[in-house]
Amino acid sequence: MAVLKRKISVIGLGYVGLPVAVAFAEAGFKVVGFDTNANRIKELKEGYDKTFEVENRRLDNPNLTYTDKADDIGQANFHIITVPTPITNINEPDISYLIKASETVGKQLKADDFVVYESTVYPGCTEDDCIPVLETESKLTAGQDFYVGYSPERINPGDPNHRFETILKIVSAQCSHSLKIVADTYGAVVTAGIYQATSIKVAEAAKVIENTQRDLNIGFVNELSKIFKTMDIDTYDVLQAAGTKWNFNAFEPGLVGGHCIGVDPYYLTSKALKIGCDPTIILSGRETNNAYPIFLAEQCRNWFSQQGITDPKIVQLGLTFKENVPDIRNSKAFDLANTFRHIDPTLAVIDPVADIAHMKPDFRFNTSIDGERFDAIVLAVPHQQFINDGWQLINALTNTDKSTLVMDIKARLDRQSKPPAINLWRP
Ligand SMILES: NC(=O)c1ccc[n+]([C@@H]2O[C@H](COP(=O)([O-])OP(=O)(O)OC[C@H]3O[C@@H](n4cnc5c(N)ncnc54)[C@H](O)[C@@H]3O)[C@@H](O)[C@H]2O)c1
Repeated sequence: MAVLKRKISVIGLGYVGLPVAVAFAEAGFKVVGFDTNANRIKELKEGYDKTFEVENRRLDNPNLTYTDKADDIGQANFHIITVPTPITNINEPDISYLIKASETVGKQLKADDFVVYESTVYPGCTEDDCIPVLETESKLTAGQDFYVGYSPERINPGDPNHRFETILKIVSAQCSHSLKIVADTYGAVVTAGIYQATSIKVAEAAKVIENTQRDLNIGFVNELSKIFKTMDIDTYDVLQAAGTKWNFNAFEPGLVGGHCIGVDPYYLTSKALKIGCDPTIILSGRETNNAYPIFLAEQCRNWFSQQGITDPKIVQLGLTFKENVPDIRNSKAFDLANTFRHIDPTLAVIDPVADIAHMKPDFRFNTSIDGERFDAIVLAVPHQQFINDGWQLINALTNTDKSTLVMDIKARLDRQSKPPAINLWRP
């Protein structure tokens, strides 16, 4: 079958799925985009993407239909599954969305169809947990009647330079015949090239270690920032100096939230523990990163006690899991706010970007400043808007006659132009 003859279905139109669906449609494929969230489908039909990953004008494409009706998936013969893979409150993989999506697709499967999983999982999940569901629901046999692949997604929300089409794509499948078709299909859309992994497990493992490596490296610099702070050394200055060596890897300290870096390592550690391996280093990195908000709050508390300020008023700027994206799921900025509330129970949080439609914070939250003045400003998430307004924004939040603490957690403010009354904290 000629590649363009394949009809694509994308199951789960979130941060990952929507750009995939739009890219295939723009490349000339007929695409059915399916999501169980009827409101998301309504918004997409109306030309609005709340994740801001796809420009609204690109949503209206004659090749692309949006639906919340599972039967519509049956029109397609190449199904791409991009549903969430979160963790439970005890840091165990929650693959319930994946199983449900597999049931849905399984019910619609026909002979010679392809199913490719893009969700991040532990090695073995596709073959051990998902394929049996597809087989049970379809009453067909994988690798014989239909074919399964795995192709991890590597997009970086809020990053226009690393998009689905422009990131080298790892693909994998059950056999060389199906691998070629999966590679050719993605190859018709992804301009950056295709890497054919030697097995589905290899592709699953590759994705999960990409994010685990990142988590560990951030854990390392977070630990460094605690050491250097105690020695009154600016960690960013150290990292800049060390970065002049050709093989020094650039990472910066900070909050590790979101639904990838702070989550995916647990998929690996859970699997490791199940098979009797002790992932000490990975879990230690997780612990360091999870505890970083406590370190930051302690730094703030120490400053107040040195200054003799009792009953301090604090404002936190930023609530999303990273700068310039509206996503607040698993945002460590929530943990940070809850930790700072031990110092100021009336803590205010300001974020003009955050999408709080489905998760109302239980602290004071505002999308803009309203004239209130504070003793400490915690620049937690350096949205471009905050950085553009810079010291002008800080001045509007402070009493200029009083010494004020500004915690610039990612060291984005210009040190040289700092107003004199500001005590600037950088990692
Ligand atoms: N967001 C990222 O930056 C990123 C990057 C790489 C990989 N990933 C991985 O990609 C996967 C998807 O992540 P995301 O950020 O796009 O999630 P998301 O929450 O933004 O989107 C998932 C969508 O799937 C829908 N959904 C849930 N269950 C469904 C079902 N049974 N059938 C159809 N739709 C269903 C939800 O309504 C939602 O719209 C996860 O495994 C994630 O780890 C995410």
